[in-house]
Amino acid sequence: MAGLLLSSSDSGRRANGYAILHLNLFRKEPLVAAIGDIVRFESVGMRYRLGVEVLHDISFSLAAGSFHFLTGPSGAGKSSLMRLMYLAHRPSCGSISVFGRDVSTVPRVELAALRRRIGVVFQDFRLLDHLTALDNVALPLRIAGAKEGQIRDHVAELLRWVGLEEQSDAKPTTLSGGEQQRVAIARAVISRPQILLADEPTGNVDGEIAIRLMYLLEELNKIGTTVVVATHNEALLERFSHPRIRIENGALIEHGHETAFDPDAATI
Ligand SMILES: Nc1ncnc2c1ncn2[C@@H]1O[C@H](COP(=O)(O)OP(=O)(O)O)[C@@H](O)[C@H]1O
Ligand SMILES: [Mg+2]
Repeated sequence: MAGLLLSSSDSGRRANGYAILHLNLFRKEPLVAAIGDIVRFESVGMRYRLGVEVLHDISFSLAAGSFHFLTGPSGAGKSSLMRLMYLAHRPSCGSISVFGRDVSTVPRVELAALRRRIGVVFQDFRLLDHLTALDNVALPLRIAGAKEGQIRDHVAELLRWVGLEEQSDAKPTTLSGGEQQRVAIARAVISRPQILLADEPTGNVDGEIAIRLMYLLEELNKIGTTVVVATHNEALLERFSHPRIRIENGALIEHGHETAFDPDAATI
């Protein structure tokens, strides 16, 4: 595990211009506590209230530490699948396990604790407009009752990582779309989630910013975070070679796996 952390911190700055992830926040303990499946769906169906099923018979698993794209046309069910993964919605049939726990048997209070281990970045960012960038990022730690000194250090560190240390006192409405998105990522990451889900994160930012965002997510993945990016952005899918989970009309039609030492993977 130490190797995982060290390997991403040995050469100062990366070719993509981002500082290597030196976050003290992540140094306390390794993120990948167990090797195996961190998410598992078995024959999962989902409906909204009494409506028709929008996801049918979905079975797949995500290895801890993997990075997947979730793709498919608009209306296919990507956001619905994300909602199931961040435990905001219950399946209408089948079973979902997260961190090795069958979600249907987890008591409500524990569900909240599981949710805190999952970071989410929404397409519309969902920042609180009356709070500064710093306070938006700090919010999850404040809610969790962390000490102010620790909050300040961690928030400053994350804002530096996403390149927004100068804007820490700015309100979201004065920030550009790309800057707001980076605040949203810092907020999603501050609780050190083991899973990071991003739903159409490039929908509201231009191409260059989308690529920078992907580099940030890859940095997080390198230190062990399991990442899923829902997108139908073809340019992004072509440029980054992560395996794809593809859904169409609520059905899973492709599930690519990441193999750790596949020599062909780099050339595809
Ligand atoms: N809150 C909702 N209530 C009822 N139906 C919904 C809701 N959200 C999405 N749907 C329906 O579920 C289906 C899948 O939508 P969604 O998961 O948003 O797809 P995608 O993210 O791939 O565009 C669509 O038919 C959509 O109309
Ligand atoms: Mg969607």
